[in-house]
Amino acid sequence: MARDTLFENKAPAETFEFNERVADVFDDMLDRSVPFYKQVIEMVAEILGRSLRADDTVYDLGCSTGTTLMALAKKLESKNLKFIGIDSSKAMLDKALRKAEMFSIADRIDFIEMDITQAELSRAGGIILNYTLQFIKPSIRLEFLKNIHNGLRNNGILILSEKVICQDKELDQQFLDSYHRYKKRRGYSELEIANKREALENVLVPLTIQENYDLLVQAGFTRVETFFQWFNFVSFVACK
Ligand SMILES: C[S@@+](CC[C@H](N)C(=O)[O-])C[C@H]1O[C@@H](n2cnc3c(N)ncnc32)[C@H](O)[C@@H]1O
Repeated sequence: MARDTLFENKAPAETFEFNERVADVFDDMLDRSVPFYKQVIEMVAEILGRSLRADDTVYDLGCSTGTTLMALAKKLESKNLKFIGIDSSKAMLDKALRKAEMFSIADRIDFIEMDITQAELSRAGGIILNYTLQFIKPSIRLEFLKNIHNGLRNNGILILSEKVICQDKELDQQFLDSYHRYKKRRGYSELEIANKREALENVLVPLTIQENYDLLVQAGFTRVETFFQWFNFVSFVACK
């Protein structure tokens, strides 16, 4: 796995983009900067394993290099599911396809290059939206979640994982400090952490847990719970 050294040097402020340079090191970036990334995928597999029916379709919106879908394809093999990964970054999808071919599961996953807010989703058993809603303009998040709700069959499940902020400013700072200490333990320097933070400014716009919860309820989901939290990282399950 190529090591993420993108923010090692003090470069002129550059806005974060999911381009080829990011795609090349993305798996290492996720592994070192999203706490409990693998464990969350295992929990997602367990939740979907309980609710999905044979032959259901599962979408991963903002699938990046396809790590989640590939894990699900292996863990839920017996259900004969159809997997569709959608992402607007060609570089990410090229990687995803190469990985799927390497693991001999390319025939079970379709990757589509398009804007997830324009995707026509239909009769899905499960939709995954992990660490991606935060990159969608806040003003269109509700419409987008309504579209996801419409795209699920009855009793279908949305999994939403997000970076969040706290309502309380002091706790927010403490959670961020813990996250930066986590990144330092994972080998990122102070400069890399600061540079990445600057690049993500105004690109990644996190909401509070309550704001995300309210959006899900307004979008039509009747049953919404969090199933994971580590400081400012949270995962929700929402049922139609
Ligand atoms: C942080 S990554 C998601 C990580 C991935 N879900 C995972 O868990 O491995 C965000 C992804 O969303 C994609 N993305 C952001 N906005 C998008 C949009 N409007 N349409 C499609 N993809 C989008 C980016 O290209 C990127 O690959």
